[in-house]
Amino acid sequence: MTIQWYPGHMGKAHKEISELVGKTDVIIEILDARLPASSSNILLTKLRRNKPCIKVLNKNDLADPAVTRSWVRIFEKRAGVCALPLSAKQHAEVKQLIRLCQRLAPHRGKPGKPLRALVVGIPNVGKSTLINTLAGKSMAKVGDKPAITSCAQQIDLRNGIILSDTPGLLWPDMSDQVAAYRLATSGAIGVNALDYTTVGLFAADFMLQRYPELLRSRYQLGDLPESATTLLEEIGRRLGCLAAGGVIDLHRTAEAFLRELRSGRLGRISFEEPGQEEPVQAGPEVTETVEAGERGKSPITGTERRAAVDAA
Ligand code: G4P
Repeated sequence: MTIQWYPGHMGKAHKEISELVGKTDVIIEILDARLPASSSNILLTKLRRNKPCIKVLNKNDLADPAVTRSWVRIFEKRAGVCALPLSAKQHAEVKQLIRLCQRLAPHRGKPGKPLRALVVGIPNVGKSTLINTLAGKSMAKVGDKPAITSCAQQIDLRNGIILSDTPGLLWPDMSDQVAAYRLATSGAIGVNALDYTTVGLFAADFMLQRYPELLRSRYQLGDLPESATTLLEEIGRRLGCLAAGGVIDLHRTAEAFLRELRSGRLGRISFEEPGQEEPVQAGPEVTETVEAGERGKSPITGTERRAAVDAA
């Protein structure tokens, strides 16, 4: 199954971000710490010019700390870029962002010369949460569905900093299907664009390869199954996701498994590491044990990568 998503906002985003960057002192790019490459947007890289940029690795509380440290080292090699892992829900951590903005634009943030910071990020990375924490009250709408907000707004933090929020402007790049599946696993892609079972199989395959101990510990598995399908079935049995006749309901299992993965129930997990941005030949196998409705759906293949979002 190829994940496709047609937000059709890219042209508008290009124009608006380009104009906003011109009036900005510091760019705050919010990324998901669990998948900083897949949750970034090429448009911003193109439009950034030489403005200082803070890569906020948000949801750090859910990401693998060692992997996050590697990402910070990689980002900080880039000219004009700082990386800051944090959890947008933690006020003390978010305060570091204010100090970093002031350090990057020391000539601004004075009476009559506000420091203008532009907040950008794909849906669901935590922009609204971060802005709410920064502003100290509920200003931006926070929601569980990607892209709930849709118009630009300015927020005066009353400390010399004015934030420009760009909700709904940037969308993930879905031309790389592995990145698309990582985004789907993290919950960044709207439910209408994905098939839970296929994404669940992708996630199960990834976990078998990368975090087998977390699977063992959460689901009390002795010997781990070799295939993603068998693993999902085992998980379904343990979580009681049964259909009529006692068969495992793979769709419900995948939903429950992804919910657990996203919430940190299995532990702190990163879905990609530096050097893995390039698409790899990966994808779950779909076998005859998959429920009837899922038969006929192909695994993700390298050749499907080119199927892209209509970004116009
Ligand atoms: P957006 O504006 O970029 O679209 O994202 P938003 O702030 O709406 O956040 C999307 C989801 O991510 C929300 O979860 C939010 O709570 C969660 N989130 C944001 N920052 C963090 C973080 O640092 N750590 C963790 N663990 N979660 C974070 P939700 O389930 O949709 O809403 P809620 O029930 O938590 O309010």
